[in-house]
Amino acid sequence: MFIKVLGAAAGGGYPQWNCNHPNSRLARSKTSKALPRTQSSIAISLDKYKWYILNASPDLRQQLWDNPELMPSPEDPLRYSPIMGVILTNADVDHTAGLINLRESQKFNLYATKRVLDVIGKNSIFNVLNPKFVKRMPIELDNVFNLHDTEDTFSGISIKPFAVPGKVALWLEDESKGKNFGSVEEDTIALEINSATKKFFYIPACASIPDWLLTKLDNSELVFFDGTLWQDDEMIKQNVGIKTGKRMGHISMSGEEGSINILNKINIKRRIFIHINTTNPSLLEDSKEREIANKNGWEISYDTMEISL
Ligand code: MLT
Ligand code: MN
Repeated sequence: MFIKVLGAAAGGGYPQWNCNHPNSRLARSKTSKALPRTQSSIAISLDKYKWYILNASPDLRQQLWDNPELMPSPEDPLRYSPIMGVILTNADVDHTAGLINLRESQKFNLYATKRVLDVIGKNSIFNVLNPKFVKRMPIELDNVFNLHDTEDTFSGISIKPFAVPGKVALWLEDESKGKNFGSVEEDTIALEINSATKKFFYIPACASIPDWLLTKLDNSELVFFDGTLWQDDEMIKQNVGIKTGKRMGHISMSGEEGSINILNKINIKRRIFIHINTTNPSLLEDSKEREIANKNGWEISYDTMEISL
């Protein structure tokens, strides 16, 4: 199985357009110590010809430009895309707005929970995905589904979606519904991606790591995991925001309760952070936080990163 990281940053990208935090400034200075990153998404393929995209970032157009295998090649018909399907893990802007780039009258399959498909269904801008061409396929928690190409042939890749701790998308929060803003299980899912011989996990948003998740991830070959913040209150401390990671539905990398420490309890061959916020110091190649992450076996993903399983 081939994997390409299309975008490694969290919502807003790195640097985020309105952020003047030193991290963001460093990325704007075009130094090799702070590589800019687009918003989180990966592409998967068994043959490098037909691709499936996990989440559709608002930066998708640039991501295609940076990854030519995802654009039509000279042998292809006059209208063609190697993108056979898109799978959504939540309804966040950074994971859905890119669907609008995939207009129009181009076949592909759109897989998401009923909850997320309903959100998209209610928002008429997504009508640009002509239903005559784009099949909306509801997926069910804990039920394996097969990825099919646009001719309905099985791709060889199957996916088991499962709920992880999280919350409803920021733009759908309903304060009248109490502390969890009306979140339901289908709002934040993780994906277990399987070919005949290989398996990996894609978890770009996760609020905490319960024991059952540790058991599930133990002895896996590869895990992409939510790397939004280094420290739960880093945005507040540095005066660039008023929310903690917990409030946003993201576990932090560092600390006793952080993902680095908790996932140290299990065996994962390759562990990679994705969905990294513009304030996270581990984005900087020479930061002490990057060193700590690396020492604990973590890689910090970057755009165009390639993995072959
Ligand atoms: C998140 O991951 O918390 C959201 O993408 C935030 C946002 O919508 O900017
Ligand atoms: Mn996000």
